[in-house]
Amino acid sequence: MFFKKKRKIAKSELDMNNIPKHIGVIMDGNGRWARRRGLPRRAGHKAGADNLERICDYCNSLGVKALTVYAFSTENWNRPKDEIDALMNLLYNYLLTVEEKFRNRNMKLQISGDVTALTKKIQDAIVHAEQVTSSGDGMILNIALNYGGRAEIVNAAQKAAADAAAGRIAADDIDEAYLGQYMYTSNLPEVDLIIRPSGEKRLSNFLLWQAAYAEFWYSDICWPDFSNDDMKQAILDYQNRDRRFGGVKI
Ligand code: FPP
Repeated sequence: MFFKKKRKIAKSELDMNNIPKHIGVIMDGNGRWARRRGLPRRAGHKAGADNLERICDYCNSLGVKALTVYAFSTENWNRPKDEIDALMNLLYNYLLTVEEKFRNRNMKLQISGDVTALTKKIQDAIVHAEQVTSSGDGMILNIALNYGGRAEIVNAAQKAAADAAAGRIAADDIDEAYLGQYMYTSNLPEVDLIIRPSGEKRLSNFLLWQAAYAEFWYSDICWPDFSNDDMKQAILDYQNRDRRFGGVKI
């Protein structure tokens, strides 16, 4: 005798007690968004940056603790120079506005990635923006900048190896928690949900370590058009998932 599996009824309203604590977003599709409008790619990135502000406000209002967004990967240096320059300008100008924008929202800025490859001007703006928002107790906007998941893991492994060589820990004692303390996101909650708009279905070196038990959500919408309602749909879908973390539900 077969028993029909009880189907979960999809909810239409968010369960405010089950909001993902940490959401990762691959802000993809800016170039296609621009091309479809006959605009240069940099216009797509500008529209993407504007949309980030809307989505930040929405996530902050829901009580999301951390939003990590992929703004520039370690592989993005392979793009044409004018596009890299446009992205760096956008980031720099954004960093200059953070103090004013984040104050009323109680938000805090964090940058994750190898910032040493960025210009001194941008590095200084990062230090300033992180410092002036450091007391914010609302959502943390974590911008992955010159970020690569593999590079992050290599970096953590090198630090752990240096600790072992200096006698601070025995190699055999290096475990997930020990290595995890060297990840950029060690101060943030576990990543619950990773969103990739624009139709691609890959991680592209984003949050490789952190994605271990994250739920994924894909959408065909390009990032500049990704609305609060799309974010709500992603969270509703997340809330209907059965998260078992490798265990079983009895
Ligand atoms: C991927 O889309 C997007 C990027 C490589 C850059 C994302 C950056 C922003 C949205 C700006 C961030 C700005 C701030 C202020 C944080 P793509 O260009 O690869 O799109 P395509 O696949 O359609 O060409």
